[in-house]
Amino acid sequence: MELSAALKVALLSSLLLSAVKSAEDFNDTLNLRQKSHVAGLCAQLIEPAGFPCSEHNAQTKDGFVLGLQRVSSSSGILRRQMGPPVLLIHGLFMAGDAWFLDTPNQSLGFILANRGFDVWVGNVRGTRWCHGHISLSEKDKKFWDWSWQEYALYDLQEMIRYVYTVTNSRVFVIGYSQGTIISLAAFTEPDTVQMVGAAALLCPITYLNHMTARLPLRLVKMHLTQVLLAVGIHELNFKSDWGTRIMEMMCDRHVDCGDLLSSITGKNCCFNSSRIDFYLEYEPHPSSTKNLNHLFQSMLCSLCSTLALHILSSFSQGLSLTYYHPAKEKRK
Ligand SMILES: *[C@@H]1O[C@H](CO)[C@@H](O)[C@H](O)[C@H]1NC(C)=O
Ligand SMILES: *[C@@H]1O[C@H](CO)[C@@H](O)[C@H](O)[C@H]1NC(C)=O
Ligand SMILES: *[C@@H]1O[C@H](CO)[C@@H](O)[C@H](O)[C@H]1NC(C)=O
Repeated sequence: MELSAALKVALLSSLLLSAVKSAEDFNDTLNLRQKSHVAGLCAQLIEPAGFPCSEHNAQTKDGFVLGLQRVSSSSGILRRQMGPPVLLIHGLFMAGDAWFLDTPNQSLGFILANRGFDVWVGNVRGTRWCHGHISLSEKDKKFWDWSWQEYALYDLQEMIRYVYTVTNSRVFVIGYSQGTIISLAAFTEPDTVQMVGAAALLCPITYLNHMTARLPLRLVKMHLTQVLLAVGIHELNFKSDWGTRIMEMMCDRHVDCGDLLSSITGKNCCFNSSRIDFYLEYEPHPSSTKNLNHLFQSMLCSLCSTLALHILSSFSQGLSLTYYHPAKEKRK
């Protein structure tokens, strides 16, 4: 087992060597730490902030056991008259913790709970808040054989159904980035969209061929995901030994790894860089190589934008969708 892992890293090293120059300062910034998530998200992050929280499980049709958390207001008065359910869907390499990493006045999950919403936190397959699969182990290749379409058609649909069933109320969905592309895909199912009251899409994506960020484009050019799949790496976990090494390899003089996040997302107005160490205790979460490969392919697809708009307009009728893109909004 250990030998084959070492072999994979060695193979990768030689394959990627031409594009590689490791950066020492990368270590300091990324400081990737393995954290044992023995306790759930409620116990680790949400309850300590004074918010009542309960853990729930939802099993997808293809056998994944997803973790969901239900959060209510820290004020007892609001807790008794619960508002409508809101389901929060995180982005790529993230999980539900992303909505709770800053103070209760800054984190959307806490803010919604304190405004009286019945907050449900979604976590897709493969993240550390997912409870695995009924028969497959994380070491199986098949465990990682999916992309964002399965997030949409199995995971999100199951989570919406679960929340709808428990609360007996239409669900408000709030998605962020990858969480928006999977929301839009899930809403193509008439059974699912009937259970949704409205959706808010933060930093929405439906196609990626207009992307200009250097790091992802570089990785696409390097055929990183195909290389990973070819050498048998199906789980993309940047907190694993080889994951950290790959990240180091990607850093060369063209990519400022000291500012890794902005090299992917562009400048971020509101990111608190003094909290990066804390964020990294939770993020990034694993995803599948196949998923990243799928997303990379859509960065190369020139027909996708027309196609996506066509699909979007054909199913979104009758559903209230709100888009929010920070770059296009004036800051308040
Ligand atoms: C990164 O950190 C690890 C462990 O702290 C250390 O062994 C390694 O030499 C460091 N790498 C670089 C490039 O500084
Ligand atoms: C958080 O918001 C509440 C009400 O909106 C306010 O009373 C409180 O002072 C704020 N706390 C901080 C630390 O900003
Ligand atoms: C950024 O994080 C630090 C450390 O947690 C905190 O002291 C500071 O108030 C934060 N800044 C903002 C603008 O929230």
